[in-house]
Amino acid sequence: MLRLYFFIGLMCLVKSDTHETCPSFTRLSFHSAVVGTGLNVKLMLYTRRNRTCAQAVNSTFLGNLNMTKKTTFIIHGFRPTGSPPVWMEDLVQGLLDVEDMNVIVVDWNRGATTIIYSHASSKTRKVAVVLKAFIDQMLVQGASLDDIYMIGVSLGAHIAGFVGKMYNGQLGRITGLDPAGPLFNGRPPEDRLDPGDAQFVDVIHSDIDALGYKEPLGNIDFYPNGGLDQPGCPKTILGGLQYFKCDHQRSVYLYLSSLRENCSITAYPCDSYRDYRNGKCINCGIPQKESCPLLGYYADNWKEYLKQKDPPMTKAFFDTAEKEPYCMYHYFVDIITWNKNIRRGSITIKLRDKAGNITESKINHEPAVFQKYHQVSLLARFNQDLDKVATISLVFSTGSIIGPRYKLRVLRMKLRSLAHPERPQLCRYDLVLMENTETVFQPILCPKLLM
Ligand SMILES: *[C@@H]1O[C@H](CO)[C@@H](O)[C@H](O)[C@H]1NC(C)=O
Ligand SMILES: *[C@@H]1O[C@H](CO)[C@@H](O)[C@H](O)[C@H]1NC(C)=O
Ligand SMILES: *[C@@H]1O[C@H](CO)[C@@H](O)[C@H](O)[C@H]1NC(C)=O
Ligand SMILES: *[C@@H]1O[C@H](CO)[C@@H](O)[C@H](O)[C@H]1NC(C)=O
Ligand SMILES: *[C@@H]1O[C@H](CO)[C@@H](O)[C@H](O)[C@H]1NC(C)=O
Repeated sequence: MLRLYFFIGLMCLVKSDTHETCPSFTRLSFHSAVVGTGLNVKLMLYTRRNRTCAQAVNSTFLGNLNMTKKTTFIIHGFRPTGSPPVWMEDLVQGLLDVEDMNVIVVDWNRGATTIIYSHASSKTRKVAVVLKAFIDQMLVQGASLDDIYMIGVSLGAHIAGFVGKMYNGQLGRITGLDPAGPLFNGRPPEDRLDPGDAQFVDVIHSDIDALGYKEPLGNIDFYPNGGLDQPGCPKTILGGLQYFKCDHQRSVYLYLSSLRENCSITAYPCDSYRDYRNGKCINCGIPQKESCPLLGYYADNWKEYLKQKDPPMTKAFFDTAEKEPYCMYHYFVDIITWNKNIRRGSITIKLRDKAGNITESKINHEPAVFQKYHQVSLLARFNQDLDKVATISLVFSTGSIIGPRYKLRVLRMKLRSLAHPERPQLCRYDLVLMENTETVFQPILCPKLLM
């Protein structure tokens, strides 16, 4: 037995001697979490030429870091079990897919691994100091602060903020993925991530009622599904560990989806989630831009506009589907009615294309008020983006199951895509919707003059 151990030890020695092994993220056990771990920050460099095998770098050895390229640091958060973050590999590869850059994984698992959250959070400033020493060396070697980008998850977001403060906000960009809330909520700007920490700070808040930070922290703060509960995540403790981390982690998966080509998530600047839901915030008022801001990697395309605002902070809302690729497609349903009396109610809308794909809208806005000859614009969200709609079905409901069944007399209904305003708008005239009864029809192209 002893001889076997000796043999394995020797093999390891030989391997590390010839640099054949690739450094990997520190893997600890739950035992370490119970006894706690001392801080040790490891930096691992990935590039397009070295996608699968990282290179260990530090402030005295910058390795193959190319100073003329962008450098993205990925900083994880609290690790209550000691395991490596499951999304790390995908994030590294996703970033290298979209841009030829240096990606540095900041592995502070020794330090972050503890069952006592406050022990991990108390080490955040020390991690920031290690990163500062490293970046200082990069600058000596010719790198520019403009090209430094930090993606911080949970506690990692505040670490990125601390580094940014040490450079007086001159880092290129910081993205905070559900910045940690506990022990940071309500703290002054110097003790947490803040919009002044980089030239551009964008934040995704996906768990504001538990592990995440509630208030805005960046130039733009994205609140998926209002920032509280994420669709597809367990709602009760019966969901096990997922119950605790699913909402929090969703911010990372949403960011990841922006690196893939499946769909781009558009967010709507708005004062509140409720206003967004009620369709009040579809004009982003952004000149020279075709759409409202996109979530994730490309959010900085809106940087100039967002920074001009006073204060330079914007909240943006959107809904997502429960699984990848998370996108929802927004349409406006404009309805003009001619009932004599005011009608209050909601409308469910289903679209079907020639191939038979069906997508139903989740319009859970508050009941709309239909008034004679007034146009009501409802925001409808679909899971699929059907390019060529063959039929539309509408159901009107007042929510009451007893009492008389109402009719909604529709003079004109119009369906228009928010994400693709160039697509033809679909119309239908003179319809009577019987309450709780599905009405199916083929739309026609709206006359150009009326658009
Ligand atoms: C890739 O990484 C390995 C291990 O760190 C290193 O020996 C090698 O020089 C790297 N190659 C390139 C092209 O960066
Ligand atoms: C930095 O990394 C190099 C190469 O991996 C290593 O030889 C050196 O000991 C490291 N220095 C420090 C201070 O960790
Ligand atoms: C560094 O990147 C620049 C620009 O992408 C490239 O021209 C140069 O060859 C790279 N240097 C090395 C040593 O790979
Ligand atoms: C999304 O696109 C990526 C490639 O960009 C692909 O690997 C992945 O399977 C796609 N996912 C879905 C759900 O379509
Ligand atoms: C519509 O249905 C066809 C055939 O079932 C499928 O291949 C296609 O991907 C669907 N399109 C959309 C937008 O879901």
